Amino acid sequence: MIRRLAIFGSCMVLSACSSQQSALHPTGVDAERINVLFWIMSLGGLGIFALVLVLAGLALFGSAPLRQKLAGEGVIKWLGIALPVAVLSVLLVYGFLILRAGEQRAPDQSTMRIAVSGEQWWWRVTYHLPDGQIIESANEIHLPVGQAVALELTTADVIHSFWAPNLAGKLDMIPGRANVLTVTATEPGITRGQCAEYCGGAHAFMSFHVVAQTPEAFVEWIEAEAGPGLDPIDERASNGQALFMANGCGGCHRVGGTKADGRIGPDLTHVGARHSLAAATLPNRAEDFAAFITNNQHIKPENRMPEYAIFSEAELADLALYLEGLR
Ligand code: CUA
Repeated sequence: MIRRLAIFGSCMVLSACSSQQSALHPTGVDAERINVLFWIMSLGGLGIFALVLVLAGLALFGSAPLRQKLAGEGVIKWLGIALPVAVLSVLLVYGFLILRAGEQRAPDQSTMRIAVSGEQWWWRVTYHLPDGQIIESANEIHLPVGQAVALELTTADVIHSFWAPNLAGKLDMIPGRANVLTVTATEPGITRGQCAEYCGGAHAFMSFHVVAQTPEAFVEWIEAEAGPGLDPIDERASNGQALFMANGCGGCHRVGGTKADGRIGPDLTHVGARHSLAAATLPNRAEDFAAFITNNQHIKPENRMPEYAIFSEAELADLALYLEGLR
């Protein structure tokens, strides 16, 4: 009994956590529609299944006249033909209406664009603001609540699939074309998404966060994000910055305001301010930076970054401190 209670308890805890990445806890206009459709389909299916069970029970154990009636042609005509035609027709019309509602929200000139590119195995996120400003970030998508935003989904290598279940349905990222997903967040909060198409070894570690903010908080965030990264706060962080520059990290990573301008890996200008490291694989603490630098092929197998075992313990700690301080 205690064991059962423990299992039940842990399930409750897990289900509470899972609302952060769940189509059943919609925080976007499209996900709300999908959620309603899901419940209509599920409850409708359950109702029809119950009806079939009742009829089967009556056919097996009912009185003789009732069983004879159930064996008649009327049952086949009404329950076998008319009912499925009616139910499927209603669902078809409802599906068309949902599709049309989605099309009416197609992006126009004034819609803010965010280009999201799938890379093995992270997300390059580029904000194209209405004033022409372009800001690059990674693995985190900030959205102003209540405003339609066009996500332009492309890929740098293989097919990925963009899926933020609390926000909207999934859409593939296909080489050579841009698929546009227009989303509107309905409430502030942090949710999680992930790649929904097998794309290679670390596919399961290709996740991201969606940060929906009030329009005011979003503008504040954009202003901070557009600026350079914070300067090192102390001598150790300065030493970390020097190590970053001297060991070629800037060949792959950009840090705004410094000479590191690599474009191969994620932009690190404000990496310390993000909610995760390595595409929502690790938390974002100094020790996680250190772990990823030396042990990333274990944490995220086959990723494109080599492991750097060249630093002493003190050097690694300084480097991690510098990166964590990039806010
Ligand atoms: Cu990208 Cu799976």
